[in-house]
Amino acid sequence: MCGIFGYKGTRDNASEIVVEGLKRLDYRGYDSWGVGVATGSELSVQKQVGKISEVHDGMHFPSAHTAIAHTRWATTGAVTQANAHPHMSADGSFILAQNGIVENFSELKKSLREKGYEFKSETDTEVIVRLIEEVSKTESPFLEAIRQAFLQLEGRNTIIILTKEGEIYAARNGSPLVAGLDSHTGDIFLSSDTLSFAAQADQMVVIENNQLVKVGTDQKLELFDAKTGASCSYKWEPINISTGTIDKEGFDHFMAKEIHETPSVIKQIVHQDRTKMTQLAEAVKNAHQVYVVGCGTAGFAAYQTAFYLRVFGKVNAISLIGADVLSYYPLFQKGDLIIAPSQSGETADVIEVLEYAKKIGMQIASLVNMPGSMMTRMSDFPFMCNAGPEICVMSTKVFSSQITWGYLLAKTVQGKYEEGRENLTRLSDEIEKYLTDGEKLQQVQDLAALIASREHIFLLGKYQNFAVMSEGMVKIVEASYKHAHAIQAGDLKHYAITLMEKGIPVIVAVSEDEVKNDVMTAINEVRLRGAEVIAIASKKEDNFDHFLHVADTGETSALFNVIPLQLLAYYLAVALGNNVDKPRNIAKSVTVK
Ligand code: AGP
Repeated sequence: MCGIFGYKGTRDNASEIVVEGLKRLDYRGYDSWGVGVATGSELSVQKQVGKISEVHDGMHFPSAHTAIAHTRWATTGAVTQANAHPHMSADGSFILAQNGIVENFSELKKSLREKGYEFKSETDTEVIVRLIEEVSKTESPFLEAIRQAFLQLEGRNTIIILTKEGEIYAARNGSPLVAGLDSHTGDIFLSSDTLSFAAQADQMVVIENNQLVKVGTDQKLELFDAKTGASCSYKWEPINISTGTIDKEGFDHFMAKEIHETPSVIKQIVHQDRTKMTQLAEAVKNAHQVYVVGCGTAGFAAYQTAFYLRVFGKVNAISLIGADVLSYYPLFQKGDLIIAPSQSGETADVIEVLEYAKKIGMQIASLVNMPGSMMTRMSDFPFMCNAGPEICVMSTKVFSSQITWGYLLAKTVQGKYEEGRENLTRLSDEIEKYLTDGEKLQQVQDLAALIASREHIFLLGKYQNFAVMSEGMVKIVEASYKHAHAIQAGDLKHYAITLMEKGIPVIVAVSEDEVKNDVMTAINEVRLRGAEVIAIASKKEDNFDHFLHVADTGETSALFNVIPLQLLAYYLAVALGNNVDKPRNIAKSVTVK
């Protein structure tokens, strides 16, 4: 999950243009960055460990009309300057950057070493450079050498290449790649996502898997089939996404801004196309088995969606964690339906499951926030969150969008679409009130300060609240780098109770629902052993040590409970001085397995 950006156009400040693009991509990985420009006679490269957004002393590049740039999330090779992309050919004729993992890079490296090639880095990326050098000895033109080398790579990879003459080449198999066009100037952009050039281009085309790209010195974009070399036709499409204001709009961090956007995000779902939702609901009702699949935060959105489909829609629905579906493949059959919530729509593990499902004739639905994504294009029932750009690496408003959509789908299956919309409209208003209530926000901030010094944080949830408390665990882990652990309240006695001792903070969601008594029993059990209970509830009870007061929104109360949990994680990150919008070690979109 790295970020790739390229520009070829009429402006001679290509380095500044690609740096701006990279800053909008560094959510994809920010271990190191690199920029390369072509002056027509030579290539000039700068690359550093660290975040491109932290480079303030400017960069001194020659004026140029063509450049590429890369922001890295390290997979093969440590975070060092030598391993930063782009990597240069031995004769200085081209540079290359990559997003992905070359799964057979060791064999390729060994074979190239035996041919006398030397390596300056630990990366699989440099192996691609040397391989292209080797193939170029016998294959021409350069595009053909790239094609032949690219076909030898195993794994999901996208590469971008800049020659000193100022030609850009790219090849995609897996990791996302889109091209942009400013139809007034003819300027061409290449990137890992549309958002990064949406403010400068008005047209786009998605590069498909196993396609090669060439942007020649004539500044024309050509596409080729990587398998045959034949040219491919394509059509520029208008870019119809709101670039949104990619700034914090007065908030200290994107995470805070994005949590505060939740009420409008819920309203977006409420105003989704009813016909499309009804069509999917029919397909859900007619499916033999429904699987809801996601990774990380989206995995818990999948869990909550399957919960609602069972409870309200009486649907045979189960949720699966995207990275661990293999054991279900023997059960997959034509007539099943798979639903994939995903912020990026590019999560490699989930795409692999969808590819398998499609192969055996299952129907696919997806709910994605990033336009033009792979999952959207694979779907029979594509849905968009339309939540606007989610820049913070920690997903908040999109998670709320996903579980809101899951609830509305279940209500549609139940035949109560209008009731679902009314409940969600009320929920949105109640969350709006909560987020604008300084006293409530202060309550959360005080509790964050209280647990900031604790090393272990537990969360208890049951029935409608278990997935939500699990997502609370994800948020707290990502925000604080502390150990957090979500437990099914009813499972406490089977193992986790041994961990309860004085001072252990236990966050508990207590909804006015059919399992409230069970949850209250669990609270008593942990308190007896010294734990400190932080309850998220609409009614205060005597056995709450701390109380985050939320509105009682009935069957949507789990959707409400997400908000104090996300805020708690946010305030924890701030209290601990962590990088709120770019936590260490993780990236926004995991486009490699
Ligand atoms: C979000 O808080 C997490 N950083 C991460 O778990 C994310 O939810 C997961 O990688 C799935 O991404 P997706 O929604 O783009 O598929």
